[in-house]
Amino acid sequence: MAQTPAANRESPATETVSDPDRFPPVGIAEITQLAELAEDLLERARNVALEPSHAKELRKWNAAEVAALLGMSDDSFRRRLNKKIPDFPQGETVNGRRLFTLEDIHNLQAILGLRPRRDPAIDKSIVLALANFKGGVAKTTSSVHLAQYLCLRGYRVLLIDLDAQASLTQLFGILPHTEVPETQTALPYFEGERLGSENWTGTLRSAIRKTHWHDLDLLASNLAFYGAEFSIASRLASEEGFNFFTVLANGLETVKQDYDVVIMDTAPSLSFVNSNALYAVDGIVITMPPAMMDLQSAGLFFRWLVELVQLFNQVGSEKVYDFLAILMTRMKANDEVHQTISSWIRTRFPKFTISAPMLETAVLQKIGPDILTAYEVKSYEGDSRTFERAMQAMNLVNAEIEGAIQNVWRRARQAKGEPAYRAAAS
Ligand SMILES: Nc1ncnc2c1ncn2[C@@H]1O[C@H](COP(=O)(O)OP(=O)(O)O)[C@@H](O)[C@H]1O
Ligand SMILES: [Mg+2]
Repeated sequence: MAQTPAANRESPATETVSDPDRFPPVGIAEITQLAELAEDLLERARNVALEPSHAKELRKWNAAEVAALLGMSDDSFRRRLNKKIPDFPQGETVNGRRLFTLEDIHNLQAILGLRPRRDPAIDKSIVLALANFKGGVAKTTSSVHLAQYLCLRGYRVLLIDLDAQASLTQLFGILPHTEVPETQTALPYFEGERLGSENWTGTLRSAIRKTHWHDLDLLASNLAFYGAEFSIASRLASEEGFNFFTVLANGLETVKQDYDVVIMDTAPSLSFVNSNALYAVDGIVITMPPAMMDLQSAGLFFRWLVELVQLFNQVGSEKVYDFLAILMTRMKANDEVHQTISSWIRTRFPKFTISAPMLETAVLQKIGPDILTAYEVKSYEGDSRTFERAMQAMNLVNAEIEGAIQNVWRRARQAKGEPAYRAAAS
């Protein structure tokens, strides 16, 4: 059925369009096959990306990078290294260069009094959610980078994947369909004791896993987590006095003392699970690109939040969030619409807008195939200026959110007449 070049030019797609075997009818068998093919493809891609170990391994940091992370000059860091302080991590020497693990960095922060640990007797753990009705607005990207930034700064962080799509889980090199049993998601906690769930442990702790990041734990997700919606609906129908939005908050009470910050990545939906997230949080970060449609969905989100908070207030004490921050994401520096809308937002909500926008950058578009977040990249393969610009924007955004977290501790201490919160305790 070879076609002449001339025929191709006239009607390039005729042959494929008329092929009777293409786009056949699809039933359950074909759909299952499609699911299996997609999962297989993902597994292969993951295995190639993470060779040889098939699990993510975190990069190490050289002495200059560690000095920068500790906020000191190269010289003063090297002087301390040479002082032979007991237990002072020396890193490992590879090809004449010293390299430090994240655990080394955390130990260095502890020895030098730079680990900004809250005092558990005074400062509560802060629970945050990144939320918006829309997909593709960088909720997951912002969650993982905020968590990793805070972890590098020495905070103990728990990340919770509340999206059955499980993108956050996959960013940790974990395959949701084969490597996340239902018991290692928040699902059993939502199912609860009274439905006779055999997985009920009474705590979220049993579902939390360690990650390749020291002191950054993950509560993973997978498709089955969507069942949480049905569990809540059925409990609403069968359990008298069941408060559908307090389940997650109760679960967090069982684990949050172990962490300084808990960050929840949410699905773009108006769901029972998201109602739970918005009840459980102290702070909300709304991610949105500065574009018309996104402004519209942010408006809808606020409307929904008003209704939710009214509901929360009917059954408990008045819900007041410690902060709400609008984070402009995927901002195109040379786009006129983005410029205009971002300046509107900044002018209208100056106290609620993170002043540094997160720029649209090739660095984050590259995450897909090689599953490396910006904080995990050891050496960037593209233009180093592009990478530096992206990291600068990222660090500014995250530093502002860190500031918002510290403000919560500061204000609470002030209100209670406690000594002022100091970012780096000694
Ligand atoms: N600042 C950015 N620059 C370029 N691409 C981005 C940026 N932020 C997010 N992305 C990409 O946009 C897509 C959607 O982001 P994601 O975080 O998954 O959004 P959401 O969780 O809101 O659905 C992803 O492919 C991600 O890599
Ligand atoms: Mg997402």
